[in-house]
Amino acid sequence: MPGKSRNRSVASIRRGRSADLDDLVALETQVFASDRMSRRSLRHFLAARTATVLVAEHAGCIAGCAVILFRPNSSIARLYSIAVAPQSTGRGLGPALLTASEEAAAVRGRKMLRLEVHENNQRAIARYRKAGYRQFGCHAGYYADEGDALRFEKELTAASETG
Ligand SMILES: CC(C)(COP(=O)(O)OP(=O)(O)OC[C@H]1O[C@@H](n2cnc3c(N)ncnc32)[C@H](O)[C@@H]1OP(=O)(O)O)[C@@H](O)C(=O)NCCC(=O)NCCS
Repeated sequence: MPGKSRNRSVASIRRGRSADLDDLVALETQVFASDRMSRRSLRHFLAARTATVLVAEHAGCIAGCAVILFRPNSSIARLYSIAVAPQSTGRGLGPALLTASEEAAAVRGRKMLRLEVHENNQRAIARYRKAGYRQFGCHAGYYADEGDALRFEKELTAASETG
């Protein structure tokens, strides 16, 4: 059968750790031309209780990353960043990171996951819509190139909550 199998697990998702810092900085540099997370921010997120960093490993290497941010006393979590290395896209790593981010938010009792995406990022927008996100707003001139950020959100199901 032609094409890539959807049934085979292509990635393992795990929590990021401080030893991943160099690889995560390299991934950011590879994926984003601007609006990158700095090394300092990544180091902070790896240690902070108000953040969860997830990494996707493919063929023994870090091939993707997601950062979810939490505020105390808020039922809304924020998917601050999601990235898959260019050579690893189209294999299901993005969808796997997205699902794992939703689960990470749900287990911390959050009811909603929100994110921003550049208005021209059609690939990511398509991925979010396919995963059940709906647009609810816009931040004009949010990005370094003055592009608008489209705001998306998804209600999280109670099924993945464990308390
Ligand atoms: C946006 C991004 C995270 C999406 O990740 P991705 O892994 O490339 O996701 P894609 O939508 O391309 O890949 C999913 C495709 O993989 C294929 N696929 C292969 N095996 C699969 C599997 N086991 N499960 C799911 N999809 C699989 C499918 O064709 C699927 O597309 P479909 O669901 O429409 O059929 C990634 O493209 C990226 O990092 N872009 C640059 C950074 C960026 O823009 N980040 C977002 C900023 S808001």
